[in-house]
Amino acid sequence: MNNSGKFETNRKTWNAKVAVHAESEFYEMQNFRNGKTSLNKYELDAVGDISGKRLLHLQCHFGQDTLSLARMGAKCTGVDISDEAIKLAKRLNAELKLDASFVCCNVLDTSEYISEKFDIVFTSYGTIGWLPDLKPWAKMISVRLKPGGFFYIVEFHPIAWMFDYSVSPPVMKYGYHQKEAIYEEYEGTYADKNSKMVSKEYGWNHSLGEVITSLSEVGLYIEYLREHDASPYDIFPGLLKNKEEMFALPNKMYPLIFEVKATKNSTTKAVES
Ligand SMILES: C[S@@+](CC[C@H](N)C(=O)[O-])C[C@H]1O[C@@H](n2cnc3c(N)ncnc32)[C@H](O)[C@@H]1O
Repeated sequence: MNNSGKFETNRKTWNAKVAVHAESEFYEMQNFRNGKTSLNKYELDAVGDISGKRLLHLQCHFGQDTLSLARMGAKCTGVDISDEAIKLAKRLNAELKLDASFVCCNVLDTSEYISEKFDIVFTSYGTIGWLPDLKPWAKMISVRLKPGGFFYIVEFHPIAWMFDYSVSPPVMKYGYHQKEAIYEEYEGTYADKNSKMVSKEYGWNHSLGEVITSLSEVGLYIEYLREHDASPYDIFPGLLKNKEEMFALPNKMYPLIFEVKATKNSTTKAVES
């Protein structure tokens, strides 16, 4: 199936989100400029000491996380489909005198634009839901990793994407692993609910089975799959803040976040091209 029209709709929406997000309280731009990391406990614990590592950040938005990783000493490259996001990421990189580089492309086409191999491939919060099929995504990740390198994802849990949040209370409407795209059109964004911008976007649901199988089928070794009740972001209705300043459902009926770490072992046969 050719999804170029859907990617183009998403690109335009993400372009429009950039200015709104850069001004939003959610993204705390002034604190970020002053040195505050935009990374959360899950990913900070997972990546550990990345000083001197080469890191590829998939779907980097306007680069706050990429630049936070660069501040930790990694040599970072960020990729995103939104040209407005990449423009702002490059401006921030120059302003903060960091040495990250940024590439504007569909994440699935990364290897057409980047030939470097990386110690770490990283992606976080709100990424795979913009991709129709995880097989080409996993293949690209395997190809871009050096032997011995690792892939890390922290992402919203697929159960959370089964709900239609445009109604109150939200209703369970979408299949856990439905193949068809989900089209949504709404005012505002997760970072500024009062914004008048209209988001028009296509998304796809991916089960945990699809995530894990896509990575293992390209020869990556799954170190862990972790599921968590608490999200660092207050983006779903009715969440309560806990002692760690994270947000969880009052009844903790299902997890909101998952993490996967997968390694490209030098001894196993991973997909190379
Ligand atoms: C929610 S952000 C994720 C980044 C990060 N969590 C943040 O908040 O900065 C999603 C990003 O994915 C990008 N994106 C969506 N579809 C894409 C695609 N097919 N290829 C590359 N980037 C894509 C969007 O432009 C957006 O910047």
